[in-house]
Amino acid sequence: MRVIVCNDYDEMSKRAAKLVASQITLKPDCVLGLATGSTPIGLYENLAEMNRLGEIDFSGVTTFNLDEYYPISPENDQSYRYFMNEHLFNKVNIDINRTHVPDGQTEDPEAECARYEKMINDCGGIDLQILGIGQNGHIGFNEPDNNLNTVTHLTGLTQSTIDANARFFKSKEDVPTRALTMGIASILKSRKIILLASGRTKYKVVRELLNEGINTSVPATMLKVHPDVVLICDKEAYASMYLGVDIGGTSVKLGVIDGFNNIVYKDSLPTHKDKPAKAIIDNVAKVCSDIIARFPVSAVGVGTPGIIDFEKNTVSATNLPFDNAPIVDWMKETIKLPIYINNDANCAALGEAVAGEGADVRDMFMVTLGTGIGGGIIIDKKIYMGAKGDAGEIGHMCIEANGIPCSCGSRGCWEKYASVSALIEQTEAAAQKEPDSILAKVVEKNCVVDGKTIFEAKIQGCPVAERVFDQYIDYLAIGIRNIINIFRPGIVVIAGGISEAGNMILEPLVKKVNSSVPIRISRLQNDAGIIGAALLGRDK
Ligand code: GLP
Repeated sequence: MRVIVCNDYDEMSKRAAKLVASQITLKPDCVLGLATGSTPIGLYENLAEMNRLGEIDFSGVTTFNLDEYYPISPENDQSYRYFMNEHLFNKVNIDINRTHVPDGQTEDPEAECARYEKMINDCGGIDLQILGIGQNGHIGFNEPDNNLNTVTHLTGLTQSTIDANARFFKSKEDVPTRALTMGIASILKSRKIILLASGRTKYKVVRELLNEGINTSVPATMLKVHPDVVLICDKEAYASMYLGVDIGGTSVKLGVIDGFNNIVYKDSLPTHKDKPAKAIIDNVAKVCSDIIARFPVSAVGVGTPGIIDFEKNTVSATNLPFDNAPIVDWMKETIKLPIYINNDANCAALGEAVAGEGADVRDMFMVTLGTGIGGGIIIDKKIYMGAKGDAGEIGHMCIEANGIPCSCGSRGCWEKYASVSALIEQTEAAAQKEPDSILAKVVEKNCVVDGKTIFEAKIQGCPVAERVFDQYIDYLAIGIRNIINIFRPGIVVIAGGISEAGNMILEPLVKKVNSSVPIRISRLQNDAGIIGAALLGRDK
């Protein structure tokens, strides 16, 4: 099987149209086998245009379609006869009597199938067959089965095909459950075959087709016995890779994910936040370009700290020199692919929701404990943005009326009590107040207080550390209970540096929160941001 990988759907359609046009030019009275579905629509548009421009002549061409729903009337706009008239036959100079689609209204399907098969043979067989591919590997309507039918036959549709095709109908119940379809041998008898595949929903099946041996569970693998098949697909169907960029204060992490959300390549570079914003982004864009040249990436997603103005597409961040920086526009100067952007905490939440702890639930809340507290709300596997794109500022919910003043202008914000910075302040204060405590000794020995200090003293059995930690967990639990009361997510995930403490933090926290909503530590850690950023492009 020859494989042609195109940049996008349009290119795929044009390539296929050129091959069909050559066939018609070489043999004006050729027999074409045609397919329906969304994939060949672009091909038919191109052929209609070429016909309009006088580049190809359909007057001598005969066509046989692969299949038709059963029972269905040709006037039904979901019938394949209707589809073909709309997308091709009414637009070109073909003799409609030479166009054939199995009769979806026949009272004797068996006789209709025999008649159809005979007609193909009587015409001398198909010169060029166009095929799409179902997500389960079906070609025509030859569904995965232990036994594949060789000739044209009446078949039942699998649930996965009914589900996939429901998008064309008013409801799933309206999708016919049976169809008349050419068999595998009818298809394989064609002299040449063009198989088309487009978009990420076809990635899995294209992989199976290319990697697996011939087997009836993926009927398209039967095409491997044919000497003249060309698979023309777009990048998304072939590789479906996306580049995720996670911009941080010290480093920029980059990763390419495949269609199964696995990171297939990772890289990182120093942010150089002392440089101007444009220089930082130019550097990132250059590294992105190098990666794009090596992997079949179809979109880029960027996670950035700070506030994004989604109307102007600019970013302002306090810990980076981004002041209304048009990051996406700058990157587009170098990268000629779609680029999407979102807040880094949102990206991490999305990554975790799709490929980490949240994979089995629809709604998830991610709490990132760091210098402040970040929140990412995932509803139905999508980032909840709020009206202006800045939802989830959970660190600034008030947990103490008239409490500690916060840089946001309010008082008593959660992050003043439960962020890692807050824990460090609480640790320092306790060590100063209790100079004879084990905690004070640990601080003295380490010369510095960080997020780990409290755990170190706790392990050594320090009662002061125990008290500070208990209080900290109380603060943390208050916020998480509030989140659960408002959102009732399927899961709450804790991320950020402190999550390295694992069970030392999780167990007491779960106990204090005392809820049926599971609380877990991020499984993907730093990779969540890369995967989530990459998914921004995929989920568009
Ligand atoms: C349909 C058709 C197939 C087609 C396939 C994929 O059910 N019977 O001939 O190839 O499903 O359709 P689409 O191109 O819309 O993904």
